[in-house]
Amino acid sequence: MNLDRKESFLGFGLGLRSDHYEDILENNPAVDWFEAISENYMVPGGKPLYYLDQISERYPIVMHGVSMSIGSTDPLNMDYLQDLKNLAERVQPKWVSDHLCWTGTGGYNLHDLMPLPYSEESLKHVIGRVKQVQDFLERRILLENVSSYLTYKNSTMSEWEFYSEVAKEADCYFLLDINNIYVSAFNHDFDPLDYLNAIPEDRVRQFHLAGHQNNGDHIVDTHDHPVIREVWDLYGHALDRFGTVSTMIERDDHIPALNNLVSEVDQARQIAAGKGISL
Ligand SMILES: [Fe+2]
Repeated sequence: MNLDRKESFLGFGLGLRSDHYEDILENNPAVDWFEAISENYMVPGGKPLYYLDQISERYPIVMHGVSMSIGSTDPLNMDYLQDLKNLAERVQPKWVSDHLCWTGTGGYNLHDLMPLPYSEESLKHVIGRVKQVQDFLERRILLENVSSYLTYKNSTMSEWEFYSEVAKEADCYFLLDINNIYVSAFNHDFDPLDYLNAIPEDRVRQFHLAGHQNNGDHIVDTHDHPVIREVWDLYGHALDRFGTVSTMIERDDHIPALNNLVSEVDQARQIAAGKGISL
């Protein structure tokens, strides 16, 4: 399944969180789409799936996973992928995404999105696995850049070179998290614009915007604050470079009332409108 750039523009969305299920159904907030965390709905029946079915009748949905572990040296978890495929058949999302990371090895789950060593060896490994996943799911996936706090001595290329090669060779798309680029740039002392400028312009299909915790000498990517001014500025640069890209606010902790997040979605909408981009 190919995601045409213009046709795949959904506008300005929000991460779907259980705190807001009732509010969404009662008040039909003015957001264009929702992103559902795949793993929250990969069970037969239950309340989350009930709400997702209801919400998907009113809004476009995209699915975002955290457990594919595309970079791990463990074999791909085919049971997980089958459950993911079944959920996609039910929800009919506009697309399915996960992260360019590994989450465990040797059967041990770190419950964290760990960065990869950016070497030729891991590049080959990841490209093969992305192709395998896409063949199995019968759709192209989006991969998101993770924020990171460590680098590897055996990396031989930058994250953006690695990420671009994966997209090109595996024929997948980017979910660019603008906040994650800002966080990693701060933690590893690179220019976030170097990152943005190196990403192939035609493969970006979604942006994430989120807040974080700045501890002075490092940033922890907590997703528990509003988006900061510097990240909004970087979003403006991303719009200049990539144009019409579906954008969403991602809040994972200290989740405020729905209206607060809808206001942040509106902020993104206004910045994009200022650049001539609207749904
Ligand atoms: Fe994200």
